[in-house]
This record gives sequence, C-alpha cells and structure tokens, in this order.
Amino acid sequence: MVSLRLIVSTLCCVVVVFGVLPFSSNAQLDPLFYSKTCPQLHSLVYQVLWNVSTKDPRMLASLIRLHFHDCFVQGCDASVLLNNTATIVSEQQAFPNVNSLRGLDVVNEIKTKVENVCPNTVSCADILALAAGISSILTRGPAWMVPLGRRDSLTANQSLANQNLPGPSFNLTQLKSSFAAQGLNTNDLVALSGAHTFGRARCSLFIDRLYNFSNTGKPDPTLDTTYLKELQKICPKNGPGTTLANFDPTTPDILDNTYYSNLKVKKGLLQSDQELFSTPGADTTSIVNKFSSDQNAFFESFKNAMIKMGNIDVLTGNKGEIRKQCNFINKKSSELDLVIVSSKESSEADMVSSI
Ligand code: HEM
Ligand SMILES: *[C@@H]1O[C@H](CO)[C@@H](O)[C@H](O)[C@H]1NC(C)=O
Ligand SMILES: *[C@@H]1O[C@H](CO)[C@@H](O)[C@H](O)[C@H]1NC(C)=O
Ligand SMILES: *[C@@H]1O[C@H](CO)[C@@H](O)[C@H](O)[C@H]1NC(C)=O
Ligand SMILES: *[C@@H]1O[C@H](CO)[C@@H](O)[C@H](O)[C@H]1NC(C)=O
Ligand SMILES: *[C@@H]1O[C@H](CO)[C@@H](O)[C@H](O)[C@H]1NC(C)=O
Repeated sequence: MVSLRLIVSTLCCVVVVFGVLPFSSNAQLDPLFYSKTCPQLHSLVYQVLWNVSTKDPRMLASLIRLHFHDCFVQGCDASVLLNNTATIVSEQQAFPNVNSLRGLDVVNEIKTKVENVCPNTVSCADILALAAGISSILTRGPAWMVPLGRRDSLTANQSLANQNLPGPSFNLTQLKSSFAAQGLNTNDLVALSGAHTFGRARCSLFIDRLYNFSNTGKPDPTLDTTYLKELQKICPKNGPGTTLANFDPTTPDILDNTYYSNLKVKKGLLQSDQELFSTPGADTTSIVNKFSSDQNAFFESFKNAMIKMGNIDVLTGNKGEIRKQCNFINKKSSELDLVIVSSKESSEADMVSSI
C-alpha cells in the first residue's frame, strides 16, 4: 500500500517534470471540470450567494477579495482558509488579513451544501474561484466561465502572505512589482484594482492621507478637497480606525467602471488606487482613461485578469487534496503522508548506511 503510493507519487513527479515546460498552467483547468461529477455546483453556489447578498450586499466584494488573497500566497490553493493548528500557522492572522477578511463562513456554508450532494469532489480553492466569478455576476459585473479543477493545499504560509499581498500605501513601482511577481502585467494591475469599485475599507488604512501624508503634516495633495472633507467626517483624527468607508461613494455595491472616473477626479480612496492615475508620467494613466470611458473594455480586461489570477500556481492532478472541511487539512491523508515520509526517510537512511 505504502510502496504503491510511493510509486504513484514518483510517477506523478516525472509527469510534472516533463509537463511544466510544454504546457502553460492555463491548460490545466477546465470550466467543465465538474460537469459530470457535480452538475449542481454552479446553481448551488449561485443560490447561496444570492441569498447572502440580499442580506449583506458587501459580501460579494468580500468574496472577490478572498480569492485574490488566496491566489497571491502560494497560488490559488485555499491556503488562506486554513485555521491555526499544531502544524498550520494561519494566513488569516497575516497583517493584510487580520480583522479584515470576510466570507469564511459563507465559503463553509457553500462547502457543506456541496458536500451534501457531491461528497469529496469539489475543492475549496475552486469554491473560492467560483464564488468570486458568481459574485461578479450578482453585482452586475462581467460573467465568465470560471476554469476549475484546482486542488487544496496541505500548507499555509503566513509570512508569505505578509510579503506578497500589496499594501494600501504602495506606490506604483511597488504595485507593479507585487503583481509582476505573480505573472500579472500592468493592464492586469489596473483592471484588477477596479475591484475597488465596491466594498469597504477601514479608516486606519488611509487616515494618513487625510491628516499627515508621508509625515508632511498635511493631507495628500492628490485628494479632491470636497472628498477629503467627506472622508475626514467619516474618519475623525483620533476616531476609531475600524470605521468603514465605501470605496466608491457613488455606487458602493456595484461592480462598474466608476472606480476609474473617481480616480480621474482625485477620489481614489487608497493611495495605491490614486497612484494608478496620478503618478507623473505613468503608463497606467492612459489605461485608467480608457476604462473610465469604456466599461466594456474594463469588463473584458477584468474578466481576463481574473482568469489569469485564478491560474496562479494551481495544484492539479494528484497534488494537494480535496479538503472535507475548508479550514483544516484532511487528517487521515496527512497521517498517511507522515507514514510515507518516515518510511522513505528510513529507507534512505538504510541506503546511506549500506554505502
Ligand atoms: C492593487 C493592490 C491592492 C491593494 C493595495 C489593496 C488593498 C486593500 C485594502 C487596504 C482594503 C481594505 C481592507 C480593510 O479595510 O480591512 C481592500 C479591500 C478590498 N479589496 Fe483590495 N487591494 C488591492 C488589490 C485588490 C484586488 C486585485 C482585488 C480583487 C480582484 C481587490 C479587492 C478588494 C475588495 C473587493 C475590497 C473590499 C472588501 C470588503 O468590503 O470586504 N483588491 N483592498
Ligand atoms: C435560499 O433562501 C431560501 C428562502 O429563504 C431558502 O428556501 C433556500 O433554501 C435558500 N437556498 C440556499 C441554497 O441556501
Ligand atoms: C477558524 O478561525 C477563525 C478565526 O480566524 C474562526 O472565526 C473560526 O471559527 C475558525 N473555524 C473553525 C471551523 O474552527
Ligand atoms: C513560506 O514562504 C517562504 C518564502 O517563499 C519560504 O522561505 C518558507 O519556507 C515558507 N514557509 C512555510 C511554512 O512554508
Ligand atoms: C516607491 O517606494 C519604494 C519603497 O518605499 C521607494 O524605494 C521608491 O523610491 C518609491 N518609488 C517612487 C517612484 O516613488
Ligand atoms: C506627522 O507624523 C510624523 C511622524 O509620525 C510626526 O512626527 C508629526 O508630528 C506628524 N505631524 C502632525 C501635524 O501630526
């Protein structure tokens, strides 16, 4: 049994060695991946999200963000969902996630309903990707066929989450290099930042722009003065940093292109938003102009960039596992792996001692 698993995993590694070069990671996922094994999947996710969104429209934004925070940290593998255990240091406590991530309970609700009809079949990583795609539809954004077939990680990486997730005070150079590290280009950066057309942000993440920008003692000069006063009312100088402000003051719960017209009139909420339009001489300014005047161009780029982001370092084939509960790796298989590792180590030790 154990040696069979070893042979299988060795074969798998051989396939991977030859597979990496000729095939792009795009080829590994397929929108029809569950069409035979879980035909109810899409309608179940849709129903849960429709129900949730009637009570909490912000949740659709939160779920799109959750997929992003999954993909930027060791790939789209549901590592972000893993809770602290003896062997896992949860990404949920990383600085960009703590007191900030939402939707973990909704993912669990979807997973429970999916397990009831198709047990041990659908990965948590795919649920995150599909929830993001269906959230876009439910919030009047673009629709796309979500590529599926990801598997779930056996690990999480909190320090990588701190390292890879961009911060609200990033300048354009930092934003570009954060996205480039994930294989995403400048057009992807501008399109995906358009997700800041809905949802909320806490005052603490932009309050420096309102009162003491870059320690100048003055507000950020790239902030519209009327908008500045509105934000100062929402976020008073010594008020609670946890108060929420809408990303988009005009259509706060709709995925449209007003984000870009807001940037053009100096109404970007985060520094990282406004940088895309206001950095002198930047190649992103013309992309903001294009998306603000052409919603279809934005939707087309957003769709493509979401699919591209959803492909980052996915686990497929025999890698990872299909978790039974999204917050924990499967006990049985991890114990089995331990047995395999120790038997492999002891056989390597035997070989060494026999040399
Ligand atoms: C470009 C670099 C980015 C930076 C610096 C950034 C930063 C942030 C920050 C600081 C917040 C507020 C968090 C809080 O208040 O706790 C936020 C919220 C949000 N972000 Fe980003 N983000 C970036 C890119 C993205 C991308 C690529 C997506 C998705 C495609 C995204 C989707 C969202 C959404 C939807 C929210 C609102 C979530 C909610 O209301 O629950 N962001 N982001
Ligand atoms: C959605 O809500 C309706 C009405 O409350 C309920 O009957 C239905 O079971 C819910 N569906 C899901 C998938 O949660
Ligand atoms: C996982 O951890 C979160 C806090 O990050 C907590 O709210 C949740 O209840 C935990 N889930 C489980 C299933 O223990
Ligand atoms: C987390 O990622 C960093 C950077 O890639 C790596 O050096 C480290 O070993 C990883 N830690 C875990 C627990 O996987
Ligand atoms: C962006 O920020 C980095 C790190 O703080 C800094 O080294 C760099 O000079 C900044 N770039 C620009 C164009 O301001
Ligand atoms: C701005 O921040 C710097 C550094 O924290 C501080 O020394 C300075 O006193 C602040 N200025 C004002 C006007 O609050």
